[in-house]
Amino acid sequence: MAQEKIQAIRGMSDMLPSDAPLWHFFEKKAIGLANLYGYQQIRTPIVEQTRLFKRGIGEVTDIVEKEMYSFVDSLNGDNLSLRPENTASVVRACIEHNLLYDAPRRLWYMGPMFRHERPQRGRYRQFHQFGMEAMGFKGPDTDAEQLLMLNRLWKELGIAPVRLELNCLGQLEERKAYREILIRYFEEHKEILDEDAQRRLYSNPLRILDTKNPDMQDLVNNAPKLYDSLGEESKAFLSSLEDILKAEGVDYTINPRLVRGLDYYNLTVFEWVTDKLGAQGTICGGGRYDPLIGMLGGRDAPACGFAMGIERVLELMKECGVHPEERECDVYIVWDKALYLNAIGAAEKLRDAGIRVIVHSGSMKFANQLKRADASGALYALVIGSDEAAAGKVGLKALREGIAGYGEQKTLTIEEALEFVSKNI
Ligand code: HAM
Repeated sequence: MAQEKIQAIRGMSDMLPSDAPLWHFFEKKAIGLANLYGYQQIRTPIVEQTRLFKRGIGEVTDIVEKEMYSFVDSLNGDNLSLRPENTASVVRACIEHNLLYDAPRRLWYMGPMFRHERPQRGRYRQFHQFGMEAMGFKGPDTDAEQLLMLNRLWKELGIAPVRLELNCLGQLEERKAYREILIRYFEEHKEILDEDAQRRLYSNPLRILDTKNPDMQDLVNNAPKLYDSLGEESKAFLSSLEDILKAEGVDYTINPRLVRGLDYYNLTVFEWVTDKLGAQGTICGGGRYDPLIGMLGGRDAPACGFAMGIERVLELMKECGVHPEERECDVYIVWDKALYLNAIGAAEKLRDAGIRVIVHSGSMKFANQLKRADASGALYALVIGSDEAAAGKVGLKALREGIAGYGEQKTLTIEEALEFVSKNI
């Protein structure tokens, strides 16, 4: 009896080879720019103690309240969670390894994150982030530099322009004062609040501003603005950041309702948003989180960072018609049945020189071999035939119009073929 097929978990996708060129293109650009701006890589485990995220992200956030993959390790009783984001983990690692002891740090990371959300286009339960964290920097020059880097990345990926929305959350004290004003305002209109907003009214009223409920839009649009509760220093921070963006020609809009879904932010918050992806149009979010290092037990240090959802960025690249191609190999070896030792020997010689090679496997009909060579995207086919072998030579056939040697099959020694290919790939 046929065995039942086992499927991937809902909301967790395979990256298939057909999408590999897109991922590679993205990774090369993102890592290239991280290097260009002086950031170093950090990798942290995908599992951490649950209390790291509770304390770091905040107890009354969607992520901690309902989206974490948390479990008890049955072998030792530890309370663990798959990481829903990476800022808390990076801060934990910096504190644990004393990375901020003698100098500030610029760090980048890339990897899978996990949130138990309702899967839909652009929203997955396992997704990937590329992010950067600058720790020990007061800003706003550092905040601005990250935004400049992102603006450059969108251009390099071929997805510009992406809309930048910016806001200033001020400092804790300012937010506390605003919180009281906001609670009073919402209390006066309690009948309009939906269930979610009622629940958040006293625990996290700022998040009510983020509501997508159409019946509450007028209410939140007319709510008192956080900006009016900010002190001079916070306002000056925002305007210095704006000065840099203007000087460098980065377009942005101030969105006074932007509060972000994680509790650790102060001063700058931002999101990059596109209209081309439907409901999940936020491709990147971040901001300043000066309180977090202290909250997680480290010595207070200012910091800022961001993370982007790689799947969303790739989806946008597809929408924008960006289709990087990648060939499977440079040279595809087609060969006569009796000559497999020659074929393998030739392949290894080419690989010694860094040339990417596939030796045909499967149907030995010459025409079929050449068809596969063509489909592989190889630039050249190396022909190991009996006539050539008898003369101590190989055949070299250029497969793509416009490349050197196209239109004729050359008969060369393997050394000559290697030199010719090396020069022309
Ligand atoms: P976040 O806004 O929660 O921020 O996530 C950043 C980005 O990850 C989002 O803008 C989105 O593109 C992507 N993303 C989030 N959830 C999903 C999902 N379920 N499926 C697909 N993509 C998703 C953070 O994670 C912060 N750690 C960012 C940060 C770094 N702030 C300071 N430093």
